[in-house]
Amino acid sequence: MEEIEIIKPDDWHVHFRDNEILKAVVPETTRHFARSIVMPNLTPPIVSSKQATEYKKRIQKAIPTTDEFDPLMTLYLTEKTNKNELKSAFKNGDIFAVKLYPAGATTNSDSGVKDIKKIMPVLEVMTEIGIPLLIHGEVTDKEVDIFDREKVFIDQKLDFICKELPELRITLEHITTKEATLYVSEGNENLAASITPHHLALNRNSIFVGGIKPHNYCLPILKREIHRKALLKVATTDNVKFFLGTDTAPHLLNDKESACGCAGVFNSTYCLSILAQLFDNENALPQLENFISKNGAKHYHLEVNKEKITLIKSSQNLTFKKYLNVNDQKIKIFEPDFPVFWKVAE
Ligand code: NCD
Ligand code: ZN
Repeated sequence: MEEIEIIKPDDWHVHFRDNEILKAVVPETTRHFARSIVMPNLTPPIVSSKQATEYKKRIQKAIPTTDEFDPLMTLYLTEKTNKNELKSAFKNGDIFAVKLYPAGATTNSDSGVKDIKKIMPVLEVMTEIGIPLLIHGEVTDKEVDIFDREKVFIDQKLDFICKELPELRITLEHITTKEATLYVSEGNENLAASITPHHLALNRNSIFVGGIKPHNYCLPILKREIHRKALLKVATTDNVKFFLGTDTAPHLLNDKESACGCAGVFNSTYCLSILAQLFDNENALPQLENFISKNGAKHYHLEVNKEKITLIKSSQNLTFKKYLNVNDQKIKIFEPDFPVFWKVAE
């Protein structure tokens, strides 16, 4: 049996939702992670400090008493976001970061930003006082092919923001393309990127081959194998600009298995097992700790966690539990298409 001990990880991008789903999914994250940045795309979205504080309390109530966990709250950026309110929310510690969704890019993004120029005064204030900007990096133009939307966003929008405000701390979230790995690697020092386990594990064949697989549908959509390889490369080689943000995004089974299924992969349950296996397959286990426990903290100017976790490789591969129950409904748990031998010691 092989064993590794590493600093307890953080998940820099989660969707906890609200109410019954929140109660079911929060423990799946708090079991293994010390901190998470919590996305604000509820209906209605979290746009005020008061909403963020109340939402944080609902999350805290759902944390099992055995787990210690710090939810870091975000505000949903709109063209109406008030600079002064944002400033005080950050200074009071009510919010940790701000999330930019291009309007219509993904689940619950209707109130997002249509014109980047309109939010530049807010981004200037964020630069001044050090609020991180988290970006869903896809354009929404109908003419742009869904597989090109990240690349076009980088060329048309991100590059503009980075050039106007080189000091702004930016996370390009859940990157999916080789172009994103190159842009971030070569970009401003304050620019970093998060990567999900499902984009490291699968390419776009996993949505379409052998029948349509709605549970592998997420945004940004899975890409070609060359892109998956590029993501794996930056995650597994010592590049401090890339770190884990699972983008765990639960939707009820009926909403996924539908004529118009929701985008999002719920992956928190076996995330660490899957990542350990991916890194092991690349002979890169020594780099796992940087990717899941160190690089993100560095980008956000936080200390790494004091606690440790142990990962164990057994001779028998894991049997994945298929669903998480939410009362009498279900959420599909993400499962990769390769055997996984690693688990977290309890
Ligand atoms: C996320 C969700 O469901 O909230 N969906 C997804 O496919 N990733 C939103 C997001 O992060 O894009
Ligand atoms: Zn997300």
